[in-house]
Amino acid sequence: MRNPVFSFDTPISTARAPALSEFGRELSAGLARTPRSISPKFFYDAAGSRLFDRICELPEYYPTRTELQLLTDYAPEIAAQIGSAAEVIEFGAGSLTKVRLLLDALDAPRRYLPIDISGEHLEAAADRLRRDYPSLAVQPIGADYTMPLVLPAPADDTGRRVGFFPGSTLGNFSPAEALAFLQLAARLLRGGGLLLGVDLVKDPALLHAAYNDAQGVTAAFNLNLLRRANAELGADFDLDGFAHAAFYNAPLKRIEMHLVSRRAQTVRLAGEAFAFEEGETIHTENSHKFTVDGLRELALKAGFTPAAVWTDPARLFSVHWLRAPGAQ
Ligand code: AVI
Repeated sequence: MRNPVFSFDTPISTARAPALSEFGRELSAGLARTPRSISPKFFYDAAGSRLFDRICELPEYYPTRTELQLLTDYAPEIAAQIGSAAEVIEFGAGSLTKVRLLLDALDAPRRYLPIDISGEHLEAAADRLRRDYPSLAVQPIGADYTMPLVLPAPADDTGRRVGFFPGSTLGNFSPAEALAFLQLAARLLRGGGLLLGVDLVKDPALLHAAYNDAQGVTAAFNLNLLRRANAELGADFDLDGFAHAAFYNAPLKRIEMHLVSRRAQTVRLAGEAFAFEEGETIHTENSHKFTVDGLRELALKAGFTPAAVWTDPARLFSVHWLRAPGAQ
């Protein structure tokens, strides 16, 4: 995921501080703009990834278990849409549990290509899959899947190329980024299709609970960004000086997560000082929610032909089969 508003025009001090990492540059730029913001992609250091795994298990966080249930219940129907000898391309390293459900249901899948920016995570996951699926060619690709990429050519007898993008990660993009990603995917998956999981618009109380869990795991996940900035960039955020805030922005159909300054304070990062007023926030994440029709319209605009859609009885979550251009 790329920060849409990051600009290299923002002055970066190199005289007093060593060259900053991408995280450092984006945080510095994000703190300098009004309103302050940072891309949610920086949540996922080792500690943040562990906290996210815990979020997925929370009683209030329904998306993961609802999607797993859909993939389990409708596995035969999904497999029938995809056909035999498929090549599966997963965007993001993803949860092995989810792709395993798909691989188990498919007829003789040929090849699995997980694409993720974090190579290390990917290699370990690939090794485990190779052990459990000896006849599947597992070829991880370390790349940013929001950028155009060329995949290794498939063998002659390979069936459809199928994209897999579960977990409603699409919702963490801006609407323009979501469209751009789907347009790229439509080209990459020509002749095949995309299996896409997205969270649905629902009672705001349920959404509020999912991002404000009673155990405070989501709060810790949000605040981990500041702990990471202190550890990696030598920033001096006072973790008790900021509070987690998550709310549903109904007109924009999205949960917004922010870190709210509890008092007037100054934070230092790489030789720069950033003054916060009491109540000022750093906007850390948007998590867009979709209607089934809205998602199908977006997919159509990107070049897909929306086909089957599976939802749970409470219509909490949806899994879509989108046919790519050139697919019969
Ligand atoms: C990864 N992504 C789809 C999660 C979401 O729900 O937007 C990240 C998350 N943020 C807070 N809780 C979970």
